[in-house]
Amino acid sequence: MSEQRDPYELRDGVPTVEDFRRLRTRAGLSDKAREAVELALPRTWHGVVLTHEGEPIGMGRVIGDGGTAFQIVDICVDPAHQGRGLGKRIMAALTEELERRAPATAYVSLIADGPARFLYEKFGFADTATHDSIGMYRLMGGRPGAA
Ligand SMILES: CC(C)(COP(=O)(O)OP(=O)(O)OC[C@H]1O[C@@H](n2cnc3c(N)ncnc32)[C@H](O)[C@@H]1OP(=O)(O)O)[C@@H](O)C(=O)NCCC(=O)NCCS
Repeated sequence: MSEQRDPYELRDGVPTVEDFRRLRTRAGLSDKAREAVELALPRTWHGVVLTHEGEPIGMGRVIGDGGTAFQIVDICVDPAHQGRGLGKRIMAALTEELERRAPATAYVSLIADGPARFLYEKFGFADTATHDSIGMYRLMGGRPGAA
């Protein structure tokens, strides 16, 4: 009996600018300007790209100062491939690298959209609100919350 080959492959690195924008929008995340993505991708601390038969279908990145503060961003899996443990595979690779290279005092944060929180909880992430702090954000093009 021949063994079933895993069609998925996870590699270290970042996708191309085109793939990055396609992966985000296909997963329902907001698009980012081409120029912004061109600036951002080379500054990734650690990234992974998940491929299916060679085609990029998922990704995740860790950004940060390399010492004190890190953020997990751009976690997404193409909807056609969701629910197969691939998000867990991406998160496992990113947290493994953080455990390997980030100082013990490093603060790693992320914003969890909807049910993605259940994924992040599996990797030890906790809701900041239970520690009397809330996540805050501002979009440079406009101020959320402003009347
Ligand atoms: C979040 C996302 C990356 C998860 O990818 P995935 O490959 O479907 O996830 P997995 O199959 O590895 O599931 C991982 C865990 O996440 C949780 N989870 C994922 N989707 C869920 C859902 N819709 N409802 C509840 N829990 C969910 C489950 O706890 C699951 O673990 P389990 O199967 O052991 O119960 C994917 O759904 C996605 O790309 N969503 C759109 C983009 C997005 O929201 N990204 C996150 C931004 S913060």
